[in-house]
Amino acid sequence: MAAPAPLLHDDADPSFAELLAQRPQLTMHAQDGLLLEEVPLSRIAAEVGTPAWVYSAGTLRRRFHALRGALEDARVPSEIHFAVKANPSLAVLRVLAAEGAGADIVSEGELRLALAAGIAPAHIVFSGVGKTMAELRFAISQGVGQINAESAEEIGMVSAAAAQVGRTADVALRVNPDVDARTHAKITTGKSENKFGIAIADAPALYAKAAATPGVNAVGVAVHIGSQITAGVSAYAAAYRALADLVRSLRDQGLAVERVDCGGGLGIPYRNEPAPTPAALAGAIAGTLGNLGVQLMVEPGRWICGPAGVLLAAVILQKHTAGRRFVVLDAAMNDLVRPAMYEAWHGIVPVSPREFVSSVSPCDIVGPVCETGDTFARNRGLPMLEPGSLVAFLDAGAYGASMSSTYNARPLAAEILVDGARFAVVRPRQSLDALLAGQRLPDWMAA
Ligand SMILES: Cc1ncc(COP(=O)(O)O)c(C=O)c1O
Repeated sequence: MAAPAPLLHDDADPSFAELLAQRPQLTMHAQDGLLLEEVPLSRIAAEVGTPAWVYSAGTLRRRFHALRGALEDARVPSEIHFAVKANPSLAVLRVLAAEGAGADIVSEGELRLALAAGIAPAHIVFSGVGKTMAELRFAISQGVGQINAESAEEIGMVSAAAAQVGRTADVALRVNPDVDARTHAKITTGKSENKFGIAIADAPALYAKAAATPGVNAVGVAVHIGSQITAGVSAYAAAYRALADLVRSLRDQGLAVERVDCGGGLGIPYRNEPAPTPAALAGAIAGTLGNLGVQLMVEPGRWICGPAGVLLAAVILQKHTAGRRFVVLDAAMNDLVRPAMYEAWHGIVPVSPREFVSSVSPCDIVGPVCETGDTFARNRGLPMLEPGSLVAFLDAGAYGASMSSTYNARPLAAEILVDGARFAVVRPRQSLDALLAGQRLPDWMAA
């Protein structure tokens, strides 16, 4: 029988030290191991258990202000509406709200979270390709600042909902600029074959129709071309040029356009790869939309909260079979689905100071869920780990907890907020009782 192919650790992977060097919120302490801000992650694991999501309030603030500063420096000050879908933790939203963030929401649930976090309705934008009548009525009655409509049908629904609650809604038209953001196909949203927005060629007629629709106040245009955009800002610039042309032609028709929503999508360097900076994005906005005299808005999610969070997990066991080493963690694809769903790469680093500096060898890092897709990394370098050893998944603050499920009847993991030397559980681990509660048998079976 042929010997199994040797497992070679991918030399392109950054080392643990190289990963930390780019993430100032994380430091390795000689005794306490990996710290997020000033809190040892081992302390959180001891008190709260694993798996656990841990968020850094300081990082959320620092990144929010870095983005705001870049937009101001480029002379395109913009309202920043945090995309709640990236991290809907009430505590995270509250931290950002206190810094002046508004919210981009896509459901009544997200709207209720944003309101509960103290974000004023006027600073909330309702996005999404399929809002229900009930959601529209609720949003309009709460006085949300803007509804981004994506179709003629939806403009009709907004008009009907506005009439039902006796108010008028400010509406921006989301256009599809047909640009390729060169990101993962599942999170590309600005190509003509995607379900989002309306074709730019159809926008002038629809905007004119919206402006004449009762209950609808047509205030502007919006675009969002995708998520985890790392291939430079040329796709942004192309989309914004198309938007600027649209604004000019709408104004030539005598229509008022007061706002342009530039969307989100700025990518982060999960693997220390090159990624565009907020300054580059701000430059693309300034070079295309800067002179239109419009109120500008952006809707970032991941860029603000991704690097602010880690997923803390413990090793259940290591197994060796067919020449491979498998490190089986107590976190799984139900917690962090990004590797299974998008082939995403996350840095995975040991928490203990001794393991952090031990020599690494290749292994597959997996969870306990009964799917081969429950694989976080293949041929990744990790030291030999003991049952109970802790690892931290880096950059897990966006689309982590928010996309988790209870697949395999696994409870939702705890969420923790760190702020300086303090930490608090902001969402306790779901209990097994809570997981089972709410199910019932039909009466004909109950007997
Ligand atoms: C309409 C809209 N705005 C903003 C975002 C936030 O994207 P990101 O987290 O990549 O910045 C999304 C997510 O794809 C979105 O659909």
